[in-house]
Amino acid sequence: MTNEPRIRIRDATRRSWAEPWKIKMVEPTRWTTREHRAERLKEAGYNTFLLRSEDVYIDLLTDSGTSAMSDRQWAGLMLGDEAYAGSRNFYHFEAAVQKYYGYRYVVPTHQGRGAEHLVAKIFIKAGDIIPGNMYFTTTRVHQELAGGTFVDVILDEAHDPSSTHPFKGNVDLGKLEDLIGRVGSGRIPYFSLGATVNMAGGQPVSMRNVRELRALCERHGIPILLDATRAIENAYFIQQREEGYGGKSVAEILLELCSYTDGCWMSAKKDTLVNIGGWLAVNDLDQFEEARNLVVVFEGLHTYGGLAGRDMEAMAIGIEESVDDDHIRARIGQVEYLGKKLSDWGIPVVLPIGGHAVFIDARSFYPHIPQDAFPAQALAADIYLEAGVRTMERGIVSAGRDPETGMHRYPRLELVRVTIPRRVYTQAHMDVTAEAIEEVWWNRDGATGLRMIYEPRYLRFFQARFERV
Ligand code: F0G
Repeated sequence: MTNEPRIRIRDATRRSWAEPWKIKMVEPTRWTTREHRAERLKEAGYNTFLLRSEDVYIDLLTDSGTSAMSDRQWAGLMLGDEAYAGSRNFYHFEAAVQKYYGYRYVVPTHQGRGAEHLVAKIFIKAGDIIPGNMYFTTTRVHQELAGGTFVDVILDEAHDPSSTHPFKGNVDLGKLEDLIGRVGSGRIPYFSLGATVNMAGGQPVSMRNVRELRALCERHGIPILLDATRAIENAYFIQQREEGYGGKSVAEILLELCSYTDGCWMSAKKDTLVNIGGWLAVNDLDQFEEARNLVVVFEGLHTYGGLAGRDMEAMAIGIEESVDDDHIRARIGQVEYLGKKLSDWGIPVVLPIGGHAVFIDARSFYPHIPQDAFPAQALAADIYLEAGVRTMERGIVSAGRDPETGMHRYPRLELVRVTIPRRVYTQAHMDVTAEAIEEVWWNRDGATGLRMIYEPRYLRFFQARFERV
């Protein structure tokens, strides 16, 4: 082409976009028959966590540890320094957390719940109250095992799948003030801040809300600890939706978000593009010393925390890649592509579409199945049966039982999470998934619920078994 002015230029909003990577290595997947899937499902007690991955065609169970690493990360594995103490990979990893998240002290853990365990041990004593913007399963169980009680102070809109509030993860500061007034700040060891909020449908908090939360907590002497698991996705939503942030990079926004908090726990298996890993980071020296001491008891020495040197190297590189604006735009763009397709077809999904997953509203999808016949569990099973697409329940089964009354908790949100691993699937996989869900939707009137026939004591959704009613 010459340098002549072009006659026609496609308007940016009509231009397709593509992922900022190409595929170098592939892993074959297997298509199965409906009969095969029906048998496997029955064997798995209608719990998608109990299926073997070889019986799954498209695996949208979770975005946890399922992302594809880059060539640079794979190269990093070869540079693993497997010294018991003081591995050079630890120092790379520590520097990456300090640079991108801004905390002073870092302790590696094998994954997020390892860090949650340490947080619970360091901060919580029996009788404490931990407020937060909606529970997360593993986070709450550690709070409860330490003798604490979690209290949800998220906005009401978060519990409404059809509310299109742009920041449904926001803390309701009025609810928090009431709680502080009722129980006293002395019983509140920290505020548990999720970003983005997984159980609300991958919904973000706004920077303004976090700033106001900071001011309120400071007045009462309550530290804020961030669940940074998907904070980069949250930073992207702030960039896209919040006034004053459109011109900032995701990296800058992440750093500002973390600056309003006193520490974080992290499942590096999500945002930061590794298959295993996590950390606990704080700014306070005493808290760090306690964490560094406890990690030796539960995870491993403070310079490896249950990880190999190579894992820490992959994590250090993954942290840097994960804040790249082009990466995060494509990642969330893919989730939005799937979500828009389903919602355009009239299938009830949580709006706005979340950062890591599309959440189907099982109450509206199967209105004839009562909540104690597990509509979301049944829907996840039906989607698998239809096309070998594995999703998971995020409703009454995930919510578990109230430790005091022993009764089911009945969350308002009864959802199926269609979770997208990062850099793994193509647009065609999203199309196949959408079409499978649409077929289940067409046949929804004939669907039946489930009965729970085996229930483990903790985090029952992972291992519970069901049969059809
Ligand atoms: N916090 C959040 C918000 C999470 O989503 C998870 C894990 C954890 C903490 C715990 O981290 O798994 O590394 O021990 N979520 C996974 C999921 C299990 O599928 O959403 P972990």
